[in-house]
This record gives sequence, C-alpha cells and structure tokens, in this order.
Amino acid sequence: MNARTLLKPIPKGSVFFAPLEGITDETFRKLILRLYPEWDFLACDFLRAPAAGRYPNKHLIKHFGKELFLDPQIQVKTMYQILTAYTAFTKELVSDLEKLQIPWLDLNLGCPAARVCGHGGGSSLLKDLKPLRPLIREIRENFTGRFSAKIRVGFNDDKNFEECIHMLNEEGVELITVHGRTREQLYKEPANWKYIKRAVEISKVPIVGNGDIWETNDINRMFEETGCHAVMVARGALKSPWMAQDYRNGNFFEKEKERLEKMKHFFTEFRAMLEEQNITSRGVMKQSKSLARYMLATESMENLRRKLLLSPTDKEFFAVIEQL
Ligand SMILES: Cc1cc2nc3c(=O)[nH]c(=O)nc-3n(C[C@H](O)[C@H](O)[C@H](O)COP(=O)(O)O)c2cc1C
Repeated sequence: MNARTLLKPIPKGSVFFAPLEGITDETFRKLILRLYPEWDFLACDFLRAPAAGRYPNKHLIKHFGKELFLDPQIQVKTMYQILTAYTAFTKELVSDLEKLQIPWLDLNLGCPAARVCGHGGGSSLLKDLKPLRPLIREIRENFTGRFSAKIRVGFNDDKNFEECIHMLNEEGVELITVHGRTREQLYKEPANWKYIKRAVEISKVPIVGNGDIWETNDINRMFEETGCHAVMVARGALKSPWMAQDYRNGNFFEKEKERLEKMKHFFTEFRAMLEEQNITSRGVMKQSKSLARYMLATESMENLRRKLLLSPTDKEFFAVIEQL
C-alpha cells in the first residue's frame, strides 16, 4: 500500500514527539511507538541535503528506518525532516524522496548549531526571506506529499517573523511548527508563546506550538494560551517519554513513586531494544546515560542522576535502575 493514500489532515489537538538529532533514530522511535502510542506524530531528526550528488535510496530509507519504512501506518505518522543550505543539492534530494513516495517532508528552519548555520543552513535561512522563497517554492514544486516547515521566530531578531509565516503560506507549506525563540537566544530564555499565538492569528495553515512544554499540563496551557492546532514536545518528551499517555489519560499530577516506576519500565525496555539490535554494552550505556540526563533533571532526583551518570558500566547503570 502507498502510505500517501492514508494521508489525512492533522487532527486538532494532536501531540507531536519532536525531532531530536542523535536520539530519534529508528530504534528510539520504534520503542516510543510501542510503549506510548498516544503520541499522534513522531519526527525523524534531520537529514542533511548533500553538498554534491545524490544519496542512494538505501541511505534515504535508512534515515527513516528500514523496518519502519515498510509500515505505511507508521510512515504517515512520521515527519521526515531535511536540513539544507542554498548551495546544497535540495532539488535532487526532494525529487528522490518524492520517487520513494515519502508521505511527509519537513524542512528544518530552526537548527541553531554553529556548524549548520556556518554553512548557511537551519535557522540561518531565516535571515533573508528573498532567497528563501524560491527555495521553498522549489521544494513544493518537486514534492507532492505533505510539506511542512519548522521555524524559530528569526535569526538575530524577530523582524522577519510575520512575513515568514505569510511567505510559507503563500508557497504552499501545509503546516508550520513555531519554536518561540530566535537563533540568537538558543535555549537561554524561556520560549515566548506569544509568537505561536500570533502565527495562529495570521496563518491559514495549521500551526504547531513548540518550546518549553515540560509538564503534562503545559500541553493544555499551550493550547489555551496560543490556540495552536497541535503541540510538539522535545526535551520535555525526553524527560517524560510517557507525557502523551499521561495527557490522554488526564494524569496531570505524577507522584514521585509513579515516576520512578515509569522510568524503570522505560529503561528496561530501552535496554532490551538496544540489545536486540546488537548494540555493544558500551553503546547501551552511552545512550542510556544520555537519556538519564534529561529524565532525571530535577532537584529531587539529583542524587539518583549522579549515581546513574557515574556508573562505569551498563551493568552498574542497570543495577541502579533495578532498585528503583
Ligand atoms: C538534542 C537536541 C536535538 C535536536 N534536534 C533537532 C532536529 O534534528 N531537528 C529539529 O527541527 N529540531 C531539533 N531540535 C529542536 C527541538 O525539536 C525543539 O524545537 C526545541 O528543543 C524546543 O522544544 P523543547 O523546549 O520542547 O525542547 C533538537 C533539540 C535538542 C535539545
């Protein structure tokens, strides 16, 4: 079955698991889909457009996940994100994704990393909308599936913000995720949800609100304060991968004991999944620690966090987890 035949408008009130470079790979998304199917949509982290030539199909499919790619129901739940720059081979990449009938393509216009912006990619494309418009047009002309964009409110400042929303609407982008910070702000200041509200007011296409959803109830708050169509959670979803489940079950007050049980369950499943993929014990430890950093980032869990992060091997790490 061609996954595109399953594409439907994004339902209002949807909850997205954000793209997270180095984390939201196939193994991780597979686990999230299995443990917490309440996430309505998930994203692949970005695939960089080649500086020259084309990627073989094998590489394009691997980015999505070879096994997940076989399931059309999962394909339509998944945002396939690309990151590009004016000098990169965008048209070739997009045409190849079109040939593969990828149902949903997202353009990264928010990445703040110096190495990305240094090459004119990610959020640096927001500096000047004049050359950005034909780039968006080119993608739209070569991709007939759902085309969305994920933006920050600007590069150094917000002066292009409203014009950017209008331009993306005019050029046929069908869904816009707004992260309420400029590139200059990185993650330093709180995300400003007023930009999400403003985007909702001026955009004809649905807006997905993103930035600083840390607790389950922040999902409600973002919907209420901004009127956005859907929300996207990134670091908060690493802190509580079960957040969408809590949200759908109306569980807004998580007790510490309950949290520890959920963490134990998550890490046990995570380990089993990595081992199934024949990841080395060093790899298991590295990936588990990188998640523990987010999951235990609260004052009350500081001691436990330290214990986990200082574990010299995966055995010691999971011995601590088993005692939770
Ligand atoms: C480790 C990490 C990796 C990220 N990778 C991506 C990415 O590949 N693509 C993208 O659009 N945003 C990426 N982001 C940005 C997030 O998707 C999100 O927009 C941002 O963190 C704000 O949301 P939050 O406050 O819920 O974390 C990344 C963020 C972090 C912390």
